Amino acid sequence: MKALAKKFSTKIESVKVDIIYATITGNNELLANAVANEFKKRGQTPEIHEFDDTDIFDLEDSDIIVLVCYTYDNGSIPDESLDFFDDMQEIDWTDKICAILGSGDKFYGQDYCKAVDTFAEQIKKTGANLATSPVKIQLAPDESDAPAIKKCVSELLAASN
Ligand SMILES: Cc1cc2nc3c(=O)[nH]c(=O)nc-3n(C[C@H](O)[C@H](O)[C@H](O)COP(=O)(O)O)c2cc1C
Repeated sequence: MKALAKKFSTKIESVKVDIIYATITGNNELLANAVANEFKKRGQTPEIHEFDDTDIFDLEDSDIIVLVCYTYDNGSIPDESLDFFDDMQEIDWTDKICAILGSGDKFYGQDYCKAVDTFAEQIKKTGANLATSPVKIQLAPDESDAPAIKKCVSELLAASN
């Protein structure tokens, strides 16, 4: 009983979490929502945005930034993330904790989820703490992907403490 009381009296530190995603057919929206739900389970209130509607300079007060994107023709990043990607060149994210996830299709062989790797490299250039390994998901996320998503969110929150 005492242990239970202790467990529930533990203060959950609140951090500002922004999740930015791009999707055409919905898989990466599902993935972004799965990540958001995992944060919610841990007492956080993440905000979800699409790349199209997001100005990188509005993320200044963010603690944790999670990017979620699909991969397109020959391993390219989504068109709608191009401006954001370019702006990452001139942003200082040394105070941010970041993650990158994406759904692609193994059918594309060596280009499988290549946009995830491209964004991972760009995140590193901002000085951010890429606190968790890039997460690649085959098409729509399902139960088998839950452990990887949980691990990603755990590592992000651990890095923010
Ligand atoms: C024309 C086209 C090109 C694609 N190229 C790639 C690719 O190079 N690598 C990859 O992993 N997936 C590729 N895909 C698959 C998508 O990334 C995958 O279906 C993804 O889940 C779509 O995400 P969304 O549902 O959020 O739009 C391609 C899909 C299409 C239609």
